[in-house]
Amino acid sequence: MQKFFSAEDIDNLSYAVQEALTLKANPRAHAELGKHKTLGLVFLNPSLRTRLSTQKAATHLGMDVMVMNMDKDGWALETQDGVVMNGTTVEHIREAAAVMGEYCDILGLRSFPSLKDKEADYTEDLFNKFIKFCGVPVVSLESATRHPLQSLTDLITITEHKTVEKPKVVLAWAPHVKALPQAVPNSFSEWMGKAQRQGLVDFVIAHPKGYELSEEFTEGVTITHDLNEALAGADFVYVKNWSSFQDYGKVYPVEEDWLITNKRLEQTNVAKVMHCLPVRRDLELSAEVLDGPHSLVIKEASNRVWAAQLVLKRMLENLK
Ligand code: CP
Repeated sequence: MQKFFSAEDIDNLSYAVQEALTLKANPRAHAELGKHKTLGLVFLNPSLRTRLSTQKAATHLGMDVMVMNMDKDGWALETQDGVVMNGTTVEHIREAAAVMGEYCDILGLRSFPSLKDKEADYTEDLFNKFIKFCGVPVVSLESATRHPLQSLTDLITITEHKTVEKPKVVLAWAPHVKALPQAVPNSFSEWMGKAQRQGLVDFVIAHPKGYELSEEFTEGVTITHDLNEALAGADFVYVKNWSSFQDYGKVYPVEEDWLITNKRLEQTNVAKVMHCLPVRRDLELSAEVLDGPHSLVIKEASNRVWAAQLVLKRMLENLK
């Protein structure tokens, strides 16, 4: 594996999930694989889970890890070619990425979208330049349009906790006060769509009108604007807010109640509730659900380690 950026980078999802669960059962079984290899984790945005779980995964594989908070500790990056750098940017991505590639065998990058320039965000301009100029394998720690380590984790978590062979999985839009990226729901839809095609789940998206995701991520997926219809018989409810894709980065007022509560979950098949975290209590998801038996959020966050470890293991095997 040379890059981990989207669902395209894993062929057989069932096989990958089983491999991740094998790593979970014996975390240090490959402790020699990453010996004398260095992982660099580069963050242009904040992170708790991605940062810690990927470091832990690398440690299990015997790797050395360096973390760079580029947004706080690095030079201001220029990403465009052909500009005279007489403004606020200090270092070009051509040099910055190439230098990091000299220090590291594998790099991870987190880079959120601007939510202002749809074309730059959806062509993954910064991420693709980083891959091009660093010269080593790259793991996405969340890019402008996708969060693949989260989605792989979510599939692992659904597989572990399912009570029927082919569970009904619902991605449910949730309220928020800020404009959030579409990366997590895009990615979840991309991975669950692929899981549906491989016969692993039935997948439905529920969101208010005006919050349609890019069709690039929802091809062949059932979409409804009726939350209760989606929740009927659901085995997993994946709660997430996102801002508008069409009116890029905008937040429309929503009159109907989209908050998931215990009462609402009565119409499900005793559904487990997931959220990638961080979550705003009683805004995005009710505290009674988060603190109750339906919630999988902590187990889901815990599984981030095994998704990261699977990806790093495959990249290390490819280095040899
Ligand atoms: N879910 C997730 O990626 O969490 P962090 O932003 O804290 O890494």
